Amino acid sequence: MTTKVEDAVETDTLCWDDRVQRGRVHRSLYVDRDVFDIEQRRIFGATWIYLAHESEIADPNSFVVRQIGPRPIIVTRDSEHRIHALINRCTHRGASVCRAAAGNKKYFTCGYHGWTFENNGKCANIPLHEAYGSEFRQSDYDLGCVPYLASYRGFIFGTFNPEKGELPLTDHLGPAADRMDEWIAHNGGDHKLIQVAGAQRFLVNGNWKCIYDNAGDGYHPEYSHQSLLRMTQERNGEGKDLDYFAGGIDVTPMYSESLGNGHTFLDQRPCMYDGSAFERQRPQPGREAVVETLNVEFGEERANEMLESVPGAGMNLSIFPSLLFIGNQLQVVTPLSVDRTDLSWYATSRRDVPDSVNTIRLRTQEDFPIFGEVDDNSNFESCFNGMRVPEMEWVDISRHLDTGVENIDEAGVVRAPISSDLHMRSYYKEWKRLMSREPEMVVK
Ligand code: FES
Ligand code: FE
Repeated sequence: MTTKVEDAVETDTLCWDDRVQRGRVHRSLYVDRDVFDIEQRRIFGATWIYLAHESEIADPNSFVVRQIGPRPIIVTRDSEHRIHALINRCTHRGASVCRAAAGNKKYFTCGYHGWTFENNGKCANIPLHEAYGSEFRQSDYDLGCVPYLASYRGFIFGTFNPEKGELPLTDHLGPAADRMDEWIAHNGGDHKLIQVAGAQRFLVNGNWKCIYDNAGDGYHPEYSHQSLLRMTQERNGEGKDLDYFAGGIDVTPMYSESLGNGHTFLDQRPCMYDGSAFERQRPQPGREAVVETLNVEFGEERANEMLESVPGAGMNLSIFPSLLFIGNQLQVVTPLSVDRTDLSWYATSRRDVPDSVNTIRLRTQEDFPIFGEVDDNSNFESCFNGMRVPEMEWVDISRHLDTGVENIDEAGVVRAPISSDLHMRSYYKEWKRLMSREPEMVVK
């Protein structure tokens, strides 16, 4: 087995069945540069990739800069409100035409030789173009665009693959769309009133899949986040924050699901919302005054609705391969190279609540990335370093594979305890399917 897999790397005869086996995957999936390069075409070039939230480009001529794997993308809204995903690569010699992270612009001018493009990608001006001769057509030099774009309730996705792009995005999301609806319902119910409100960014020295592996992992919190759990219990007593992860994770009412197409879900709500999730939070300075004012101003029922959306949706929803709903935040995993990954946590606010509610929402959303994400990041980098050991080839994904605890419903959704590795087995099934063939990819 060892020889076969290592030979495959060297000869480029890629045997995915050898590398993704029952209950284990080969370390080369994480550390091999060839695998990474193939992933950028067969995964990130071939399926729907989350790009941005519509609230980030609400105004005409606004834009944000994103990536699809190594491809730099500018997501724009033109003056007629149409959304585009332009490839941030000058059609002259490849320089970036936009070097800002976000802003409002009708035109992008390349800093190298001054070629200018409209925010719909059209080449608008080439300085001294006469020197290119009579055959030269400026219209051949429009920016490349991601050819297929679709939004699901404010979430913009794009793909280069006609096979995906010509089918509705909802076919790709499947039951994950219902979970996105639940996330939106938790945040007031009207997706047009949800606002992405800034990001905390982490640069992780590890492969992107180390992060995706963790997103649906209910096995680790009791151990990895032990200091956070213990500190909360010592200072604030029982029944606070994430203490429901401590003990009994094989039998808790929380559950994991495989939703198809590599999407997975971990539901914390049966424990987090068995009472008031707002009361379950650790103390936040000044929030008692906010509660009092809201009760007076809006009445208890409406005040409660707003306050119970503060602690987070209690959902870990992973949309393969790079969008993670965690609490009230959106995490985006962007692979930069085989050993470097951008992990951005986008905070959200609600436009239908007073600023005071959004302030405590934001304090809550700062809480876990600061207290807990450091534990996770340290695990990502540590796992990645371990995967570099050539003599130890396998990464285990067998938990609850043979315990008979998985259930499947009529829609094909598989359910298991939160400590199961169902989430990894599920996305690796889709990963292997996509990696097994070269997709057709087009650029508009
Ligand atoms: Fe952009 Fe020359 S590389 S104008
Ligand atoms: Fe964690």
